[in-house]
Amino acid sequence: MKNILAPSILSADFKTLGEQIRQTEEAGAQYIHFDVMDGIFVPSISFGMPVLASLQGCTAQALDVHLMVTEPVRYVKEFAKCGADIITVHLEACEDVQGTLSAIHECGVKAGLSIKPETPVDMLTPYLNQAEMFLVMSVEPGFGGQAFIPESLGRIRTLRAMLNERDLHPDIEVDGGIYQSNAAEVLAAGANVIVSGSGVYKGDIRKNTAGFMEILREYE
Ligand code: DX5
Ligand code: ZN
Repeated sequence: MKNILAPSILSADFKTLGEQIRQTEEAGAQYIHFDVMDGIFVPSISFGMPVLASLQGCTAQALDVHLMVTEPVRYVKEFAKCGADIITVHLEACEDVQGTLSAIHECGVKAGLSIKPETPVDMLTPYLNQAEMFLVMSVEPGFGGQAFIPESLGRIRTLRAMLNERDLHPDIEVDGGIYQSNAAEVLAAGANVIVSGSGVYKGDIRKNTAGFMEILREYE
């Protein structure tokens, strides 16, 4: 399975965003993880459509949009129009999960479905064949720079086993508190898309990205 690095620009320095993204791309990162927060589903507010639109066309990396937003179905079309390649919504935030995933697919975009650390993995069961990606949060969504919740490893293992049982092979993305020091165990548990904000953007971006890429390739 192809392993992918999705650096989260939440930890970038926005004065020079384009240049920093370029460094991750040159060092091999395949995605840009784009965290949208509405101040309701999560306490904080981040950025939205105009920022995404300005990234469209400036990079060959896929735009991986993580909507931490209540009733995200309201915004799916607009994010698709702004260039999203993948739109991930939270199971906890949708009144109609299946309808929301369908709305994403209708825009010609890949759909992701995410669960917070306290949400039982079983709740994904009805949707296992309806998304191209499942995002297991390994911190409470809302802020960068938090510590990885160790129980997440078991949750990733459980989800991968549930998918394998059904002969389904979507991506499993993991988000929150991932550094080069713990990336290998996240991959070994069954994830193949690694989000990292602080682990990429704090310090030497090129070197951090290259370090992650080496670990990702080892586990392919
Ligand atoms: C948290 C966001 C994450 C965050 C990860 O709510 O979804 O994508 O940017 O940041 P780090 O890697 O610093 O935990
Ligand atoms: Zn995220």
